Amino acid sequence: MGYRNQPMATVKAAVDKTTLFSEKTRQDIDNWVAKYPDEWKQSAVMAALRIVQDDNGGWLTPELMDKVAAYLDMAPIAVYEVASFYSMYEHKPVGKHKICMCTNVSCMLNGSDKIVQHLEERLDIKLGETTNDGRFTLKEVECLGACVGAPMMQIGEKYYENLTPELIDSILDSLE
Ligand code: FES
Repeated sequence: MGYRNQPMATVKAAVDKTTLFSEKTRQDIDNWVAKYPDEWKQSAVMAALRIVQDDNGGWLTPELMDKVAAYLDMAPIAVYEVASFYSMYEHKPVGKHKICMCTNVSCMLNGSDKIVQHLEERLDIKLGETTNDGRFTLKEVECLGACVGAPMMQIGEKYYENLTPELIDSILDSLE
């Protein structure tokens, strides 16, 4: 068998995967890997990136993406492609609370522009920016699948729907 026909795992130097992540992180990733057939463990890449990102304060570095690639026996470029395609992955530090504001069609038709304006004024930042105190990042995102509650936003794992400026104030006041 020629070099080109060998599975990647046999031509790459073996990696001690226990050195890549903490035991807890490996367990979390392994729980997702277990959901797929052995030969399709790369299907866990999105979950693995999310887990690693959460462990790193909400953003990914090239080194972390390389580790995910090594852990799942993937080419690094394949991991970069996933991490750069989906908006839920961050490539620079974010605030403690990442506000993902939907401005897609349903939300736009229901006044997301006014909500964005209120958020920008209240936080004194623009879309894509983080407050100086590191508490909030304001991010514009595409449809989050909650159009019935438009306009809406996501903070952490929670959706906030039927937003008004008053509701925004109470939500932000409730966050640490
Ligand atoms: S358009 Fe905003 S959630 Fe669908």
